[in-house]
Amino acid sequence: MGLWQERVVPVLIDRVMASGRLVPLRHRLVAPVRGDVLEIGIGGGANLPFYGRGVRRLVGVDPSPRLLARAKERAAWMPFPVLLHEGGAEELPFADASFDVVVSAWTLCSIADVDRALAEVRRVLRPGGTFRFGEHGLCGADSRTAAWQHRLPPLWRRVAGGCHL
Ligand SMILES: C[S@@+](CC[C@H](N)C(=O)[O-])C[C@H]1O[C@@H](n2cnc3c(N)ncnc32)[C@H](O)[C@@H]1O
Repeated sequence: MGLWQERVVPVLIDRVMASGRLVPLRHRLVAPVRGDVLEIGIGGGANLPFYGRGVRRLVGVDPSPRLLARAKERAAWMPFPVLLHEGGAEELPFADASFDVVVSAWTLCSIADVDRALAEVRRVLRPGGTFRFGEHGLCGADSRTAAWQHRLPPLWRRVAGGCHL
């Protein structure tokens, strides 16, 4: 990994993902979550303040050590245990059926092998468990915007940590 990906991209991601415009969406995504929770692509931990007290423990995984360091700072203020693991969602180091809920916030777009990651999510969820995700997608309302979403990814991916528009 080059200096750009290792040092600059995590700072950009942390700044952009702290946007106040995402607050209502984060609240909707994680406030109802209860029990043992896994967040894939936890990044800098921007969701952490929005989890409720029904969480028993939260495990976060992310491949970026810099973003995990930021998540660790935020985790210090949480009323439940937070464990952080460096790694990708394609190979989760957890036993089958070990979480009640898996959360993903604007992370599926950045995962190279999303089918493998989703198979892992299914494996680690308990029977009846829930996968809650927030994601952006292809614009259906405006074909010009959609065309740019197809054009930009080769450049955008370098700036935005692998994000596919
Ligand atoms: C746009 S950021 C979102 C971060 C965080 N979920 C949030 O809501 O602020 C995408 C995140 O996906 C992470 N990521 C990239 N590849 C990944 C993978 N293979 N597995 C899990 N996370 C990954 C990045 O390091 C980054 O933290």
